[in-house]
Amino acid sequence: MSRVVVFDEFGGPEVMHVVEEPVAEPAAGEVRVRIEAFAVNPLDLMMRSGTSPVTVPLPHARLGVEGTGVVDALGPETTGLEIGDPVILTAIPDASARGSYAEYTTLPASRVIARPAGLGITEAAAVWVAYSTAYGALVEKAGMRPGDHVLITAASGGVGRAAMQIANQIGAVPIAVTRHTTKKAGLLAAGAAAVIATDDVDVVEAARHHTGGTGVDIVLDLVTGPGQQDLLKAARTGGTLVAAGFLDPRPTPSPESTSLTIVGYRSFEHTLDPVVVKRMAAFLYAGVRLGALRPAIDKVFALDDVVEAHRRLEEGLHAGKVVVKI
Ligand SMILES: NC(=O)c1ccc[n+]([C@@H]2O[C@H](COP(=O)([O-])OP(=O)(O)OC[C@H]3O[C@@H](n4cnc5c(N)ncnc54)[C@H](OP(=O)(O)O)[C@@H]3O)[C@@H](O)[C@H]2O)c1
Repeated sequence: MSRVVVFDEFGGPEVMHVVEEPVAEPAAGEVRVRIEAFAVNPLDLMMRSGTSPVTVPLPHARLGVEGTGVVDALGPETTGLEIGDPVILTAIPDASARGSYAEYTTLPASRVIARPAGLGITEAAAVWVAYSTAYGALVEKAGMRPGDHVLITAASGGVGRAAMQIANQIGAVPIAVTRHTTKKAGLLAAGAAAVIATDDVDVVEAARHHTGGTGVDIVLDLVTGPGQQDLLKAARTGGTLVAAGFLDPRPTPSPESTSLTIVGYRSFEHTLDPVVVKRMAAFLYAGVRLGALRPAIDKVFALDDVVEAHRRLEEGLHAGKVVVKI
């Protein structure tokens, strides 16, 4: 049997509950993974509350787009993996059916990669979504190069911290944005070359100050909403803004005519492509080996406390990733 977190109606964290159900057999080309830990992501909260752009069929919806565990069974014709291999899950686009909030899940074998050597279970559970999103948006989409000044919003969060580490690994210059001056020291310690606290300074003026007046080359906008207008002004002529997050629920005004390239980003456009996943994994393995990439963990919960784990993220008090260990 497998213990699985499900919800039957949209609502607050309390709609989630743990049920026991038979362990599914992997189909051809699939693998069954015994999950050891998973991370909680903002998308999970949106799916649970009914505010996600993804359709979530009810009742009995599952959750979870990332996690780590060991290969538990191989479906017919599944090659390249052995029972017992430690893996991380790289894409679960059908999370409401196969989500990682469970003791077991089945998925195509192409959607797992080897667990990076040097990461413990907790860190491995929290590494992929943040790093693949930051890498995909900055490197694959915006073409980030050494020396680029990169303005990173929501820098205190999982994706933002990953973005700062990736920028540093490449030789770019990460400029972190936070709403709170009190977070400045922590962000500098986490790798920011400079921090813009919007409760203290104007983001446009500060970005120009940190770039000798020219503006940043790339903006990673994880917040969107009305604040995007200022971020566009903080970038240089010919720069790029990648809109990859939705932390501000308010509408995002259409950009006025601008010299910038503005692109939206969803990591599934890369994480379902094995060729890009290979590049992402190679970058991740190298970064972990060199000590340049390491997720910050906020707090670890037990499976029975998954409601509390969601509350932690919802309260916005977390610094780094919230993880549930099974
Ligand atoms: N495109 C994709 O494929 C993809 C993949 C993964 C995640 N995402 C999205 O990326 C965003 C960030 O994800 P994450 O996991 O890094 O989130 P997270 O860890 O929950 O980020 C938390 C940080 O975001 C900042 N923040 C929260 N609400 C904000 C608001 N209304 N305005 C400005 N800043 C706010 C806060 O920093 P301060 O208090 O310091 O300001 C907070 O510490 C989410 O919207 C998520 O859905 C997208």
